[in-house]
Amino acid sequence: MSQAIQIDKDADGNVSAALIELDSSRLPEGDVLVDVEYSTLNYKDGLVLGGLGGLVRQYPHIPGIDFAGTVAESSSDQYSKGDAVVLTGWRVGETHWGGYASQARVKSEWLVPLPTGLSTRHAMAVGTAGMAAMLGILALEENGLKAEHGPVLVTGAAGGVGSIACALLSASGYEVEAVTGRPKTADHLRFLGASKIIDRTEVESPNGKPLNKERWAGCIDSVGGAMLANILTQIRYDGSVAAIGLAGGAQLDTTVIPFLLRGVKLLGIDSVMCPYEKRLAAWKRLQSDISTDKLEQMINEVSLADVPALGRQIIKGEVQGRTVVKVS
Ligand SMILES: NC(=O)c1ccc[n+]([C@@H]2O[C@H](COP(=O)([O-])OP(=O)(O)OC[C@H]3O[C@@H](n4cnc5c(N)ncnc54)[C@H](OP(=O)(O)O)[C@@H]3O)[C@@H](O)[C@H]2O)c1
Repeated sequence: MSQAIQIDKDADGNVSAALIELDSSRLPEGDVLVDVEYSTLNYKDGLVLGGLGGLVRQYPHIPGIDFAGTVAESSSDQYSKGDAVVLTGWRVGETHWGGYASQARVKSEWLVPLPTGLSTRHAMAVGTAGMAAMLGILALEENGLKAEHGPVLVTGAAGGVGSIACALLSASGYEVEAVTGRPKTADHLRFLGASKIIDRTEVESPNGKPLNKERWAGCIDSVGGAMLANILTQIRYDGSVAAIGLAGGAQLDTTVIPFLLRGVKLLGIDSVMCPYEKRLAAWKRLQSDISTDKLEQMINEVSLADVPALGRQIIKGEVQGRTVVKVS
């Protein structure tokens, strides 16, 4: 038996979450059984816990899109009992049972070995949010971004993706400007590496002009919507924006003028189906660049029982930094 958060849907379509004792024989198919030590709370976990976005098709369901732990059983050549492993993405926690349980059974190809030097707790402080932030930075660099080109903007900076993006960018020598709707997080964002804090209201909505003064050489965006449309008009010549999230909205109402007259590039980032080799490259850079001191300052460690309430909070943009869930 293991402890788990299970979500279920009633006859009226209401989704609720409860802490249960889970018989391991109910776990789905997979060639590796993992004793889960830590999971996390991401924006997507909030959607799943609330039954939002049509992400879960079959109930009852065990959420948790990330986990890190130790292999308990394996019929794969790749992993043996006792190996430390990490899982992010592959729609685990959405279409396959996830990490909010003290055991998870998954396909070996979804796992990566725990990066050397990172604990399972720190790997989960990184989690899907950190993987996406890292993939975003790698994409900006593949498209020519260099520190000397000018400041890089991070939106939703006090959130999970944003906090890790601030820390990673500053570790690579970039000048970081951070947008937040929570002014009280300014000192924390400066500690993570932001040199300038921009109030959300300043960049929240476009002024109707297709181009505005060139400000940022690049952007890690987890907000989307009107803010992204506005930012595109202020990216410097040949700069790029990594579009990671939609915390502010999925609709993008813009013109093609920044693309045509300034060579601005809008780069889509997906951490979920990202191929294995690219994941390994991202973890390698994370392993060398992420400061464990900064990670510790981002972590709010909670238990499985705390997860349902926090799921509601993250959807409202009320969760700061990275919520690490101690599972066992
Ligand atoms: N593409 C991928 O592979 C990938 C991977 C991970 C996450 N994501 C997406 O990235 C986004 C962020 O995820 P997360 O886990 O970092 O969530 P999070 O911790 O809740 O961070 C989101 C942040 O966005 C800001 N925000 C929230 N509502 C807003 C609004 N209405 N307008 C403007 N800003 C708003 C808040 O930052 P401030 O308080 O600082 O303003 C909030 O902390 C989500 O949309 C998620 O689905 C995508």
